[in-house]
Amino acid sequence: MRVVLLGPPGAGKGTQAKVLSDRASVAHIASGDLFRKHLGEGTELGRLAKIFMDRGELVPDDVTIHMVLERIAEPDAKGGYILDGFPRTVPQAEALDEALATKGQAIHKAPLIAVETDELMRRLAGRWICRACQTAYHEVTNPPRQAGVCDRDGGALYQREDDKPEVVRARLETYDRQTAPLISYYEKQRKLVRIDGQQPVEAVTAALLRAVGR
Ligand code: AP5
Repeated sequence: MRVVLLGPPGAGKGTQAKVLSDRASVAHIASGDLFRKHLGEGTELGRLAKIFMDRGELVPDDVTIHMVLERIAEPDAKGGYILDGFPRTVPQAEALDEALATKGQAIHKAPLIAVETDELMRRLAGRWICRACQTAYHEVTNPPRQAGVCDRDGGALYQREDDKPEVVRARLETYDRQTAPLISYYEKQRKLVRIDGQQPVEAVTAALLRAVGR
């Protein structure tokens, strides 16, 4: 199972990818989480990524493609994976397809989680994330049992710098300009499945499981 999860910032890609990867026993690979890990470790790549992330812009393709293709080659991804946040441009999608083709592989499905802009803004403004396992909560719609503490592992919750309204607006513009063209890219390959992302989390999960044939 090799799946590309598409959707604008705040659509629920991370939330759903975590559940799907548990249910299907495949790796969850999130490009944003990989950049944030580099940032936390103070690497050169992390410092570079931060410049773009803080502005709501995309990290350059060459850097991103290299990082994700390396991650996909790791042993835990052999049985399949859910890609969350990658690809985000047509050149990234083409590079992924080319790399997979050299191994006789391909992406199976590209579900698109669709959510309206006002709801995306509400979701990102109220989001809290676990520093340890990256599980996302929402202070109104999906609060943790204890404020500030992750239900899964007791990790501390924090709010992302790029969830400030002005950066969210820039991220949404970047999505429309650079990532939305992937919808027709995967439609042409007959891999796109549209999912109503405004349903409760469990209903979105059920629709995604149907979409990927589980
Ligand atoms: P990244 O970390 O990938 O952020 P994103 O795509 O903007 O997505 P988010 O993590 O914000 O949202 P999500 O869809 O995962 O939603 P979530 O599940 O958390 O990227 C960050 C930055 O890194 C980019 O701006 C860029 O600079 C860089 N980058 C990353 N990948 C790159 C690439 N490929 N190329 C270049 N640059 C790249 O849910 C959001 C909230 O809603 C949560 O509070 C959650 O609890 C709640 N929620 C979820 N589902 C529901 C529901 N059904 N109902 C109600 N609430 C819900």
